[in-house]
Amino acid sequence: MSDTKKHAVHAGSLESIGDVIQEKPEACGSGEQQTVIQPESLVFRSMQLEDVPVICQIEQEAFTSPWTAEAFINELTNNHFARYMVMEWEGQAIGYGGMWTIMDEAHITNIAVRIGYRGQGLGERLLRELQRTAVFFGSARMTLEVRVSNEIAQNLYRKLGFEPSGVRPGYYSDNGEDALIMWAELDQVKAGVEDDED
Ligand SMILES: CC(C)(COP(=O)(O)OP(=O)(O)OC[C@H]1O[C@@H](n2cnc3c(N)ncnc32)[C@H](O)[C@@H]1OP(=O)(O)O)[C@@H](O)C(=O)NCCC(=O)NCCS
Repeated sequence: MSDTKKHAVHAGSLESIGDVIQEKPEACGSGEQQTVIQPESLVFRSMQLEDVPVICQIEQEAFTSPWTAEAFINELTNNHFARYMVMEWEGQAIGYGGMWTIMDEAHITNIAVRIGYRGQGLGERLLRELQRTAVFFGSARMTLEVRVSNEIAQNLYRKLGFEPSGVRPGYYSDNGEDALIMWAELDQVKAGVEDDED
């Protein structure tokens, strides 16, 4: 990939897979007018190849070193650990998130909400959906890296049970920023999924 650096994954079982993860940058500010939506009208579905152009637009809004279309296509077609989800409203993708589910661990690769839709609980909805999906695929815990400066995302992650577990120094190649490694146990999510099934 032209503009992404590859990094060894932190967690033991993920590392043993011998795979790699691309860096993810930070949140950016929102100068756009906000579109307020009704949560019940959201649709969550698997990402398809046809989604890649609009996902790349959102990616470019959200990150200073966005993934390329090729990166997403590769994830969707060649990586059988990858699960990518689109959050849709009135037929339009307004956010997305992805993860790798490997053994009983899920590793978030990216999550973003369109600028004009932020700050109304949609990132939280999306992450909750990713957590439920991870449980569905057998994950017991979830991890991610986040820029130490990305307080908005860190607040979201803490709200959904993530706790810091370490730092990856100089993880982000564009400015040498450290990544905070965070982990969440998914037992409560699992209990909620089981309650829903009853
Ligand atoms: C991170 C991101 C997905 C959050 O999406 P969002 O829809 O704006 O977030 P929500 O409205 O669901 O907020 C959920 C929680 O995030 C935190 N949060 C959201 N906006 C915040 C802000 N402006 N300031 C501080 N915390 C904020 C809060 O903890 C909030 O919970 P609360 O409303 O109970 O306080 C979004 O900002 C984004 O796409 N950023 C760019 C991409 C990015 O940085 N991704 C993460 C990379 S690791």
